[in-house]
Amino acid sequence: MSLRIHVLNGPNLNLLGTREPGIYGTLTLADIEARLVARAGDRAAILFQQSNHEGELVTWIQEAGQAGEAVILNAGAYTHTSIALRDAITASRCKAIEVHLSNVHAREPFRHRSHLAPVVRGVIAGFGVLSYELALEALLSPG
Ligand code: DQA
Repeated sequence: MSLRIHVLNGPNLNLLGTREPGIYGTLTLADIEARLVARAGDRAAILFQQSNHEGELVTWIQEAGQAGEAVILNAGAYTHTSIALRDAITASRCKAIEVHLSNVHAREPFRHRSHLAPVVRGVIAGFGVLSYELALEALLSPG
């Protein structure tokens, strides 16, 4: 399996399963990883990580970008605040798709702005775990 896809998760996503289930559902991050690995099958290797630290996410984006490997990125609240994550995507020419479990545009106004959206290939929000799966299919689609 030569294609490697990084799935990077930001702050508080380690609490999925118990975190505001009315918004984020009851699946854990491990459940999401299992769904992606199953869906990818032998089409891609899924490299799944989570961090509560902005700088760690910056490093992982840089490494993926420099290796020419794609990223599915749920940056959590850093989506709305982080110029460093945006710069990491552009600086390393990282091919990234921004995903969110919830429909951020139906929530508080501060979640409507994404610093990442202008520099990623696309944004998928509001479909729970399917947001991640749709991003995977987009990356695996030819053309
Ligand atoms: C989130 C949406 C963000 O606004 C929030 O800060 C998160 C999760 C989502 O997946 O819906 O942590 O990225």
